[in-house]
Amino acid sequence: MEATPGIRVENLYKHFGEGETLVRVIEGANFEVYKGELVALIAPSGAGKTTLLMMIGCVEEPTSGTIWLGDEKVYENRWLTKETRKIRREKIGFIFQAHYLIPFLNVIENVTLVPQTNGMSEKEANKIAMELLEYFDIGDKARSMPSELSGGQNQRVAIARALANKPQIILADEPTAALDTERSVAVVKMLKKIAIEQNVAVIMVTHDEAMLPLCDRILKIEDKKVVSKEVPASKDII
Ligand SMILES: Nc1ncnc2c1ncn2[C@@H]1O[C@H](COP(=O)(O)OP(=O)(O)O)[C@@H](O)[C@H]1O
Ligand SMILES: [Mg+2]
Repeated sequence: MEATPGIRVENLYKHFGEGETLVRVIEGANFEVYKGELVALIAPSGAGKTTLLMMIGCVEEPTSGTIWLGDEKVYENRWLTKETRKIRREKIGFIFQAHYLIPFLNVIENVTLVPQTNGMSEKEANKIAMELLEYFDIGDKARSMPSELSGGQNQRVAIARALANKPQIILADEPTAALDTERSVAVVKMLKKIAIEQNVAVIMVTHDEAMLPLCDRILKIEDKKVVSKEVPASKDII
């Protein structure tokens, strides 16, 4: 089977400000992330990792270039749809360093919120949410509040929430930064499993070198461009 791109970026530029306050963040990025692939995005702080994810996620408008999500060209020097929010909701699952669960909703309500916003019935959304929570070994926490869960459990809920809508793309911004190594490994392995089993393109920003052998490939922001690298050989982490 030929690998198909979940994400394709061509000649992408991103500048902030103008004149004396002009900041050139990305200057001509070209890369693809394939469906079924877990790619680590690395670069020093301030190099533009979050900005790049937010452009792919249709949150931050690029300065110029082209972005394809699956077979849909969403940006070519301008958004090609007025409905960027719809694209985001339907195609993309976001996972952040902090889990951003809604504190006054219980676990299953947090997971079913977006699918229901997208028009899924409560019954169907609950069924998918329970399957995901069970898959992540937190089925018994469905009626708990986020404040009653550990950091690692909340991050699993956040991943379940990102998956509830069956996204084609997962964008994870330092999802393991708040976790210890053992829990980080568990989260990254979960992302890899999702990539394969659900044929999702996953980009994960990380500063943790120990996570790199668990990924398929590395994208590194270098000289304001994006270069692709092999992952280092696995050490004792796997
Ligand atoms: N809204 C904004 N306005 C101006 N500059 C910004 C804005 N967002 C990010 N930047 C700048 O863009 C650069 C990249 O930021 P960011 O994408 O957050 O980097 P990273 O995630 O790699 O740490 C930084 O220099 C940051 O100051
Ligand atoms: Mg960042």
